[in-house]
This record gives sequence, C-alpha cells and structure tokens, in this order.
Amino acid sequence: LTAPKHVLVTGATGVVGVEVANRLAGAGHAVLALVHRNQSLVLNNGKRLSTVGGPDPAGGTIACVRGDVTKPRLGLDAADYRRLQSSIGMIVHCAAIVDFGRAPAVYQSVNVDGTAAVLALAQAAPDGPPPLVHVSTAYVAGERRGTVLEEELDVGQRFANAYEESKCRAEGLVREAVAGGLPAAIVRPSIVVGATRTGAIRDFKTIYAVLKTLTEGRVRSIPAYYGATLDLVPVDYVADVVAHAALRFDDAVGKTLHAVSAAPLTLRDFSDVLAEYPPFHVPRFVPPETFDVERLPLLERKYYDRIVSLYESYFTRRVAFDNAATLEFMGRAPAMRLRPFLRRLLDYCMRVRFLGRPLPDVGTVLADLHSSDRPGGDGASADGVVAAT
Ligand SMILES: NC(=O)c1ccc[n+]([C@@H]2O[C@H](COP(=O)([O-])OP(=O)(O)OC[C@H]3O[C@@H](n4cnc5c(N)ncnc54)[C@H](OP(=O)(O)O)[C@@H]3O)[C@@H](O)[C@H]2O)c1
Repeated sequence: LTAPKHVLVTGATGVVGVEVANRLAGAGHAVLALVHRNQSLVLNNGKRLSTVGGPDPAGGTIACVRGDVTKPRLGLDAADYRRLQSSIGMIVHCAAIVDFGRAPAVYQSVNVDGTAAVLALAQAAPDGPPPLVHVSTAYVAGERRGTVLEEELDVGQRFANAYEESKCRAEGLVREAVAGGLPAAIVRPSIVVGATRTGAIRDFKTIYAVLKTLTEGRVRSIPAYYGATLDLVPVDYVADVVAHAALRFDDAVGKTLHAVSAAPLTLRDFSDVLAEYPPFHVPRFVPPETFDVERLPLLERKYYDRIVSLYESYFTRRVAFDNAATLEFMGRAPAMRLRPFLRRLLDYCMRVRFLGRPLPDVGTVLADLHSSDRPGGDGASADGVVAAT
C-alpha cells in the first residue's frame, strides 16, 4: 500500500493561498503548506486554521513546511527536499510578490525564478512530474486594450510595471514546461478583493491602498477615463477556481482560466458609487492628455508619486478578459452585481474603519438630539459628528 500523496500549496499564508489550502484539506487532501516569513494560516474571515506537525499530514489536515522559493532546494536541506519531492502528488503555486513599487529584481527573484524553482521541483520528481496549478494574473495582458483571450499570452504587449512583466515571464516558463510534458493548469485572477457576500477582506493591499488615498482626498485628481474598466473579483471565487482546478485536474489540465468578475466595472460606476458616501472624497478623473502632474500641490504630489502613480495605468485601460473556458469549467461566474458589490466592499471598509468615518446610526442621532435639548447638550456625538437637525 502506498501512502496518499500530498498537495503542496506555496504562498499558503497569502490571501488566496490560505483559502485554497482550506478548500483542499476540506475535500480530504493532505496539504503541505509552504510558509515563508509569516507562519499563521488565517482565512479571509479572520478564522485561524489549525495545522498538524511533521512532514506527513493525514488526509483532511494541513502541515506547514518552512521554505523560500528564491533559495536553492526551496531553502530545504537535501534530505527534506528529496522527501518533499517524492511525497507530493500535486502542486498549487500561489507564492508571489503581489504589491507594486518594489525593485524589479525582487519580482524577478520571487515571481520568475521562484516559479522556475517550483517547476524544477516538479520536473525532477522520482515518479514523474506531479500536476501543477499555477496562479498567474489576468494582467499578464499588460496594457493591452480590448478583449483578451484565455489562451493568449505574449502578443508583444507593453507592461505597466515589473509585477505584470514578471508574472508574464513566469507563465511563459510554465507553458514551456507544459510543452516539455508537465501537466499543468493556469488560473489568472484579475484584481482580488473582498468576499462575494460580505465584502470582507483580510489584507488591505493593492487597490485598497489607492482607494484609501483617493477617498481621503489626499490625491484629488488623477489621469483617467470614465470609460476605463477595472476588473474586481471576489476572493472566494478566485479560491474556488484554483481549488477546482486542483480537485478536478483532469478537466482543467492544459487550460488557462480567467478568474475574473461577472463584468468589469467602469470608472463611471466607481465614481457614482463613491459619490453615494458622504464621508468620501470623489476624485476628479482628468483625461490623461490634459493631466499635468507638475501642477499638483506638493503634498498631493507626494501621495500621487508614492501610491497612485503605481496604479495609474489601471485607470486608463479599456480591457475585458474573456472567460469562456472558465465559465464552462466552473459553470458559473462570481455571483455579484457590479454596483451592489462595490457598495458591499466599501461598506465593509467603513465598518472596520479602514475607510471613512461611519455616519452615526439613527439611534445615535436621536440620542444626540435629545442630549442637545438638555442644558449643556451641544448635539455632538461621541465621535464628534454633529447631528443633523
Ligand atoms: N491579490 C491580487 O489582487 C492578485 C491578483 C491577480 C493574481 N494574483 C496572484 O495570486 C497569487 C496569490 O496572491 P495573494 O493575493 O494571495 O498574495 P499575498 O497575500 O501577498 O501572498 C503571497 C504569498 O507568497 C508568499 N511568499 C512571498 N515570497 C515568498 C518566497 N520567497 N518564498 C515562499 N513564499 C513566498 C508569502 O509569504 P510571506 O508573506 O511569509 O512572505 C505569501 O504567503 C499570486 O501568484 C499573485 O500573483 C493576486
């Protein structure tokens, strides 16, 4: 009798990786979670996953292996590396540097060389290469306009940043390995945001940093087209697509799957919904041809350079990610309607005070009104919001 093989999940503490690891363990797989600096597995809803010790988890459980995709043998000693290689029956590769603004060498080392290291692990496995699910990004399309097909990769596009370029090169390596006989499926999420039903997100990174800068009025105008499209996809849908690709690998092998929203949001939608929130500043979208960064006030310019400029090109792109193969594979798009979903994301951000200051509820307003009737009452609530009369 041979022991059941493990599923290795890299980037298993990440926003996507932990959700995938949880789904695979939930389906009865023995999961080896490759952890790097952070070692706690916390789901998007804040729940911590329990893990078991040792390199040999039973079905339905998760064990952590500490490693680094930039190091030789993933940072493991020779014996542990060999044991890992012979024990894994599948790899789900989620590890990457996702935030923008790092030195190009960082993306090369983690995203490109790290993917090469994961491929090398698979290719030298004693029983032949195990299946690989590689998590890429829809933005390997770079600054392409129009409709991007799932099977397309390098069509000579320009990239907006070193992250996009590195993910495109990493996907290119996976495709080369596939041509050499590695069984693989590729999943390309767009911009990963909060959960479909609750809007909750564990980490406020990427687009959330821009959202904060803009809604706080730290940058009041940006170069953008109201017709530009932003593709925001709920984290649970992305994790479902990645986990399904692993669980139903025979159906997924050879496919590239765009894990994207039901339809992209235009900046017009974005602007209209922001305007519904009194605490938010709504940025002015200025056509790039007439925008002059030199004319921004000094402090605004600093925020612009540090945060908004990294995402600038996302506000001018008109791109749609075709997801025919994903719809066929999953049988569904994310269950979201665009503007209500954006409101859900914003409501969550306000509830946890990442954005804005929540307006007082009716009870608080009435209590404040009554307190203003009393001698000494001034109608101000505890957090300084003056009640409307
Ligand atoms: N988030 C998005 O909007 C988005 C959109 C499209 C595609 N994707 C893709 O989805 C995948 C997962 O993204 P995510 O949002 O879950 O990212 P994340 O939350 O930033 O997680 C990244 C994971 O990679 C690990 N990692 C980083 N450097 C590593 C190294 N040298 N060795 C081993 N592990 C390392 C991190 O561990 P430590 O924190 O301990 O370093 C973390 O567990 C990535 O491939 C990303 O490109 C993400």
